[in-house]
Amino acid sequence: MQKSKNLNRRHFLGAAGTLTAGALLANPMQTIAKPASAKTKLALVGTGIRGTSFWGKNIVENYSKETTFVGLCDINHGRLQFALKYMGVNCPVFTDFEQMIRETKPDVVIVTTMDSTHDEFIIKALEMGCDVITEKPMTTDEDKCQAILDAERRTGRKVIVGFNYRYGHQFSKLKELLAKREVGRVTSVDFHWYLNTYHGASYFRRWHGECDKGGSLLVHKSTHHFDLLNWWIDSDPVEVTAYGELEHYGSNNEFRGANCRSCAYTDKCKFYWDIMKDKRAVDLYVNNEKYDGYIRDNCLWRHRIDIYDKMAVQIKYANDVQVSYSLTTYSPFEGWQIAFNGMDGRIDSWEGIPWRADERVNQAQLHAQEMNQNAKENDSAYDEIMVMKNWNPDYELVKVPRIRGGHGGGDVRLQDKIFKDPDMPDPYKHSAGTRDGAMSILIGIAARKSIEEERPVQIAELTDIVPSADRT
Ligand SMILES: NC(=O)c1ccc[n+]([C@@H]2O[C@H](COP(=O)([O-])OP(=O)(O)OC[C@H]3O[C@@H](n4cnc5c(N)ncnc54)[C@H](O)[C@@H]3O)[C@@H](O)[C@H]2O)c1
Repeated sequence: MQKSKNLNRRHFLGAAGTLTAGALLANPMQTIAKPASAKTKLALVGTGIRGTSFWGKNIVENYSKETTFVGLCDINHGRLQFALKYMGVNCPVFTDFEQMIRETKPDVVIVTTMDSTHDEFIIKALEMGCDVITEKPMTTDEDKCQAILDAERRTGRKVIVGFNYRYGHQFSKLKELLAKREVGRVTSVDFHWYLNTYHGASYFRRWHGECDKGGSLLVHKSTHHFDLLNWWIDSDPVEVTAYGELEHYGSNNEFRGANCRSCAYTDKCKFYWDIMKDKRAVDLYVNNEKYDGYIRDNCLWRHRIDIYDKMAVQIKYANDVQVSYSLTTYSPFEGWQIAFNGMDGRIDSWEGIPWRADERVNQAQLHAQEMNQNAKENDSAYDEIMVMKNWNPDYELVKVPRIRGGHGGGDVRLQDKIFKDPDMPDPYKHSAGTRDGAMSILIGIAARKSIEEERPVQIAELTDIVPSADRT
């Protein structure tokens, strides 16, 4: 690993430069070099909820010794003005991305726009000499994915993909147990994710419900889960077969309105949401509808919705691991369960399964808490991982401190690694770059294709990345 010679302009270490597709097998380390002086100049595009909070106010409050915002960009002028106030910065704002880069000369561009637009800003930023931190999913289709990979190789600049889930305590502990081969060679994985009728439904109110904007939940949401699988299994996916249907939201209801605020059916719609009671949502979206027409409390029964609301995916890995994955979007509770079946035993873990946790939670409160970076945690609460060896009726209970806020504690740990301590040891390879970003979305893109074309889809069909059994 080589540090940038020019300390005033910080670069990500381990630039890929002119790497070939084969050489991209090893995922380069994704870190920002720490200069002796001068702060990293950040520009952010996409001042919505994620941009202004996690990648905005949060950075200003926690990493202002290391970074400074030099520009903000969005298509929505009103949201830009709100972002300045909310984040507590006074940098210039732009509706023209290239103008922002030319005039403010950032070191790093943070991309937090709608998913289908990420590629445009990632590629322009790389070509204009910046490194990039992008929110997941890296992009939404295979052509855009290839273009990002090509741009990174061509420019020698680096892209970090913000896979915060990896850094969560429970997920990290699972990685550690698997790396230690606690149950021998893992041969198959069962992974099921349940979004409740608050969180799950929220995707269908927003741009996420339209495939050309978020790539469907198989890309927008499952990219997190597929990335975890790739990282835990430590191999590349090779083949994907999937099923999916839209049979709950969208056209599957007898009534619908324009949006919740103007709806005639608020008394009988179980999903009625009064956005006016949510100050953040009013400040960000309602007050700024006049600039771009984006309606945040859209009807989740609108005919325009064209993504799946139940999905089942089978994934075959290059190291012969088989995965059964599903995503449900109208569950009475929010949670997940996973099992790793090994030659010598099995590892089980879960979160949010009411009878397993032996507690009843208010699902609305739970979602609010998960999105809150400052939520107080219950010090004595823990999550569970069960390790059970073949031929032994006992099981080992591994207790992991429970952190519900900020995606299991992953949000803070991800940013500490990027901004505060880039040289932090990374024995379990938490850092993620474009190869990880690509491999996770390619499973979702292949799943989408498999559903549409009713056939198994090879990952190697999609880009020039050659799947490998061993990613080290
Ligand atoms: N890692 C996580 O846990 C996590 C959580 C939430 C969101 N996200 C990601 O963050 C990104 C933003 O999501 P969000 O929930 O903040 O959405 P949002 O709708 O609140 O914000 C998106 C912003 O992008 C702007 N925008 C859209 N198209 C643009 C364009 N062409 N040019 C400039 N600005 C444009 C919109 O005006 C809006 O301000 C998404 O990619 C999403 O997947 C990640």
